Amino acid sequence: MKEKRSSFTGSIGFVMAAAASAVGLGNLWRFPYLAAQHGGGIFILVYLALALTFGFTLLITEIAVGRKTKLSSILAYKKLNKKFGFLGYLAYFVPLIILPYYCVIGGWVLKYMIVFITGQGKVAAGDSYFGDYIGGTVSPLIFFMIFLLATMLVIICGVQKGIERVSKFLMPILLVLAVGVCIYVVTIPNSGDGIKYYLLPDFSKFSFKTICAAMGQLFFSMSLAMGIMVSYGSYVKDDVNIGSAVNQIEIFDTLIAFLAGFMIVPAVYVFSGEAGLATGGPGLMFMTLPKVFASMPMGNLIGACFFILVFVAALTSSISVMEATVSMAIDRFKVSRKLAAAVIFIFSVLLGIPSSLGNGVWADIKLLGMDFLTFFDFLTNSIIMPIVALGTCILIGWFCGTKTVEDEVTKNGEKFSRRGIFRVMIKYIAPVFMIIILVFYTLAQFGIISY
Ligand code: PHE
Repeated sequence: MKEKRSSFTGSIGFVMAAAASAVGLGNLWRFPYLAAQHGGGIFILVYLALALTFGFTLLITEIAVGRKTKLSSILAYKKLNKKFGFLGYLAYFVPLIILPYYCVIGGWVLKYMIVFITGQGKVAAGDSYFGDYIGGTVSPLIFFMIFLLATMLVIICGVQKGIERVSKFLMPILLVLAVGVCIYVVTIPNSGDGIKYYLLPDFSKFSFKTICAAMGQLFFSMSLAMGIMVSYGSYVKDDVNIGSAVNQIEIFDTLIAFLAGFMIVPAVYVFSGEAGLATGGPGLMFMTLPKVFASMPMGNLIGACFFILVFVAALTSSISVMEATVSMAIDRFKVSRKLAAAVIFIFSVLLGIPSSLGNGVWADIKLLGMDFLTFFDFLTNSIIMPIVALGTCILIGWFCGTKTVEDEVTKNGEKFSRRGIFRVMIKYIAPVFMIIILVFYTLAQFGIISY
């Protein structure tokens, strides 16, 4: 069965779809807690530097490869060079592993959304609420499955377009609401120290770990090194200016992440003191924001709106993760959409259950010293994605030549701004960097160096 490749309507359609995939829990949940953990301002600085150089290079490469080959990632790499076909397969594992735990966290968001909608926001502001909740057995599992099911239904019914239309006007609202909450945070007494921590880089807090964390976050947040942007690129029309589209996606994604951190990190100072920064971890957003909402007028209502928007952002991202796995399975195994979705659903339930229970009854089971959710997150963001990125850089920089991407970007006479950065990054800096990171992690895992 050969379907005609549908394409995005123009540049705006493409930018919106890519942004809907990119903006999600990575920005709202992951970025703030990493920024809190890794020194605040210095993390932001490192992240921005990496986004403008490395993130940009990889994003433009993936989209250009997609548009040039008009194939999804599992076949695109092979078409460019037979020896690199394995990259497509490797990239396939990333969304497959991310989807289950992403939906576990999506379930937490759903739970909070309902708590706020039913007017119980104050309860969620309690110190032990979050820990008690995710440590439970039945409820987090049920919410996880509802979230996963919702994602699958959208995929099976093929109503992604409808969801995209909704998110098109909800995302700007999220932006406005986030700015509003940030302004409120500035007015909370004693938030000054927290704002300083978040904005002013403290170079004494810089370490190699900061770079590793920022790098993993970059991959995750921009949906890179997992084939998704290659597939998206394959749907982009030939007259779209890829360079400026990439700039817009990059700016939007980074802005939302920055604002999310601004809402959360300074508030941690106010409500939990400096100690809260280190101990918050993945629960930071869920522990801090309810306290912010509880302290503001009409907090319950604003909190409800906020969690509804986070839910939509998370759902559009999880749809894009699942769509990636499903469409690649259809491409590769020639199965029907329903069957592919059903198999991936079952697989996700199996992997999601330990990710959820690892916070409670299975907390004692550790993989390389991590609970399941942290382990899956580590495996994808810190190991597989750097390998895929390394392979992509070597393929383009040394085998196909940077011209492959450059020609695609400038196809209609567009300007390729940051061309110099692109060339140096993809040929030299990024590959060396990836190798250092991978060696570092491996040595750390075997206890040869401490992490
Ligand atoms: N980039 C999305 C986010 O920030 C997450 C995502 C991961 C989307 C993997 C697609 C694939 O939440």
